[in-house]
Amino acid sequence: IAVDAYSLSHLHPKTSTSPSAEALEYALINSEKNGLPDIAVSPSQGKFLMIQAKILKAKNILEVGTLGGYSTIWLANASPDVKVISVEVNEHHAEVARANIAKSGVEDRVQVRLGPGIEVLPQIAEEVKQGKRGKFQLVFIDADKENNWNYVDAAIGMSEPGACIIVDNVVRKGSLALGNTQDPRVEGARKVVENIGRDERLDAVVIQTVGEKNYDGFLIAVVK
Ligand code: DHB
Ligand code: MG
Repeated sequence: IAVDAYSLSHLHPKTSTSPSAEALEYALINSEKNGLPDIAVSPSQGKFLMIQAKILKAKNILEVGTLGGYSTIWLANASPDVKVISVEVNEHHAEVARANIAKSGVEDRVQVRLGPGIEVLPQIAEEVKQGKRGKFQLVFIDADKENNWNYVDAAIGMSEPGACIIVDNVVRKGSLALGNTQDPRVEGARKVVENIGRDERLDAVVIQTVGEKNYDGFLIAVVK
């Protein structure tokens, strides 16, 4: 936690413009005030996502699981011409997220789409197929963990070759590799790791993380 604070104070100081410290702080405080769970990505993880979007020169980004829009704000600030579509199942969360996103001034480039990912992703896939929206260069999956694999599978068809698919929370304090589990979120993490391992369309790695959000990790996959 001290390392996160130290690093961010130098690498994303309060005077940093994009996203502004005010917008990020507003998103966290407004989310808490409205009763949203405190499970957004950490500031360092948010910046990591924004940097991935910059590296990929992403123009179209898909997010599954908006929550209060904290990671959405980071992603949308990767460049002035990035567009983000973010899927959220909870109407209250989506409303809070839209307010948080507007505070960051990126509401013109962000669409929060209400509905379960498992239903909304096929709709988005159809829009991509019909040329109504571009293919994605970056996909961030951070929703109901049981459907991790279904979201990855759907995302591949909507992504450009070379696109990056990132799945949050696959390590879960090491549970990923620790014996039997009754936790469907851990089962969801194992399923996505094991299925991607067998899938010719992707090349992937798990990167473990520590810091403000404890011991966890991302799965990072590239679409061949
Ligand atoms: C949980 C979900 C998340 O997306 C996260 O970052 C941390 C925890 C959860 O469902 O417990
Ligand atoms: Mg998460």
